Order: sequence, then C-alpha cells, then structure tokens
Amino acid sequence: MSLWTDLRVGWQSFKTRRKMNRQFGRREDPFSYGETPYELARLDAMQAALSGPRWNSVLEAGCAEGHFTQRLARLADRVTALDISAVALSRARRRVPTADFAEGDLLTWTPPAGTSYDAIVLGDVLYYLDREGVSDVYAEVFARIASWLKPGGRLILAHGYAGDEEFAHRRCFRERFEAAGLRLICEAPVDGAERGAVRCLLSVLSAR
Ligand SMILES: C[S@@+](CC[C@H](N)C(=O)[O-])C[C@H]1O[C@@H](n2cnc3c(N)ncnc32)[C@H](O)[C@@H]1O
Repeated sequence: MSLWTDLRVGWQSFKTRRKMNRQFGRREDPFSYGETPYELARLDAMQAALSGPRWNSVLEAGCAEGHFTQRLARLADRVTALDISAVALSRARRRVPTADFAEGDLLTWTPPAGTSYDAIVLGDVLYYLDREGVSDVYAEVFARIASWLKPGGRLILAHGYAGDEEFAHRRCFRERFEAAGLRLICEAPVDGAERGAVRCLLSVLSAR
C-alpha cells in the first residue's frame, strides 16, 4: 500500500475502532445477541450452515463478544476470531478461552503466513468496511478473504437488512465473492429472523 492509502485506511480504522469501543463500552452485549429472537434465529441459521463433519480450522471475522465464537468452538478443532474492538475481544476471550483471538481491521488484516481455513464466517461485519475514502482497498478485500479458504472450504455470510436497497447491498457482498472465484451453494433470508423491518440474508459459498 502507498503512504496515502496507509493514511486513509489508518484514519478509517481509527474511527471504526473508536466507535465500536464506545459501543461495547456502554454496556455488555450491546447488540443483544443473548436475548432477542431475531439474533438467536440468525445465529442458529449460521450454525446450521456449518453442520456436518467437524471442522479443522475456522475463522470468524467481527466476532464481537464471542457469542457465535462459542458455538464455533463446539464445531471446530481450531477457532480464530478477529475483531477491531479491544473491549469486545476482552469479553470474547473470557467467554471462549479455547479460541485464538486477534485484534485488527478486516480491511487490512492477514492471517499468519501459510494459514488457510476450512470455513470463514462473516456475520454483520462487511458493511463496516465499506467506508468513505477506502473504496479501492474495500474492493480488494473480497478476493483477499476468498484466498484464505482451503479448496472446498466454506464461506458463511449473514447480514441484516431493512428494505430493498439494503437487501441489494447485502446480496452484492455475495456477488463480489463469486467474482473472486467462490461458488454459491445457497442463499435465502433466515426464517424467523425478523425484527421490525429488519431481516437477515444468509449466503453459503464454497471455494473451488
Ligand atoms: C454487529 S457485530 C457482529 C458480531 C457477530 N459477527 C455476529 O454476527 O453476531 C459487528 C462486529 O464487527 C466488528 N467490526 C467492525 N468493523 C470491523 C473491522 N473493520 N474489522 C474487524 N472487525 C470489525 C465490530 O467491532 C463488532 O464486534
């Protein structure tokens, strides 16, 4: 990256980190993962998309306080979970002591050299990356993430939306991964994940 790109991305990272640390600093579980029927239906559907044989290594990006990481730890031998917020991560570490946690911005983070994953989970995180002034780096993140999957590996996308415009925006995440070489297995709004006008689009893709 050029110095100018470093500065633009660094500034946006700083702002997102500050925003998320404030949000998690206000109270525990600010997104009500442990309580609302919407979130429970969403997390259940994400878990069902990973059912089958036990996974060897899984990456969750944007793990927040580890509610889904905890479920992943029951499905996989090795779980790595990334988040930009140190406040969220400190709670996630307490919740799932067996997982490996990393603090970083998904926009620029890379796994340790030589590491690839059997599955990657992105739940309600990609829309935080689509920030002003970093569209060139954002455009590249889909191919970068796709390249971290082992052949045959699975990518789970689950993002909330309200209305047609946001639905198209969330579907575009999946289209960008297809353009990066992944194959769509299935995609549908999650049954039972309804909170006012908000629904959740779940997409499952696979690496060739
Ligand atoms: C709405 S929560 C989603 C939590 C979880 N993935 C789920 O689906 O339940 C979004 C999380 O993404 C994290 N996040 C936002 N932008 C990020 C970025 N650029 N890199 C890594 N994590 C980020 C936030 O700190 C927050 O914990």
